[in-house]
Amino acid sequence: MKFFLDTANVREIKEAHSMGMVDGVTTNPSLIAKEGRDFEEVIKEICEIVDGPVNAEVVSVDTEGMLKEARHLVRIGDNIVIKVPMTVDGLKATRRLSDENIKTNVTLVFSPLQALMAAKAGAAFVSPFIGRLDDLSQEGMLLVEQIVEIYSNYAFDTEIIVASIRNPLHVLDSALIGADIATIPFSVLSKLASHPLTDKGLKSFLDDWKKSQK
Ligand code: G3P
Repeated sequence: MKFFLDTANVREIKEAHSMGMVDGVTTNPSLIAKEGRDFEEVIKEICEIVDGPVNAEVVSVDTEGMLKEARHLVRIGDNIVIKVPMTVDGLKATRRLSDENIKTNVTLVFSPLQALMAAKAGAAFVSPFIGRLDDLSQEGMLLVEQIVEIYSNYAFDTEIIVASIRNPLHVLDSALIGADIATIPFSVLSKLASHPLTDKGLKSFLDDWKKSQK
């Protein structure tokens, strides 16, 4: 399973990269805005750190605007993936970009049929937002299960990026279901590595070692 980091924070990306945990990066306009930096400058810097896909999202809502932005953004790096919203205009842009061999990630997906349409339009990636469904008392992971089944039924190549991940259980469930990728906020990634019994065990090993050295 691939781990993408869901952030536009370069310090976080460098830290997770040094742990070997960054197979790619996803950003969105909100994450970019949070950094208070120039969009293209941040994306370029991320591309210099990460070899895998670096997702940059368009902000136009019409197909032609999305295409113009996408064709400009792909010049930043060979690994740029264009995030396109799951709208009719977004599907049209996805089809055109796919025909031009530009990789897209159809984002803001909340239903299995939206995911089916994204795959049919030629999306390289699809992003179901599970945390936001959970927020509405709808089971986000059920959506991921349904997309996995549909893509497997018809052998679509589109990779599933589980997005809007809020806690370690979301990552565990994504892995058990067989999603291709989880895009994880740095705060959640940090929690995955720790366990109180690891800390307790390490402390006791080191205490015993110190005693034996006296
Ligand atoms: O990858 C999409 C993600 O950034 C959305 O997460 O927590 O804003 O729903 P959240």
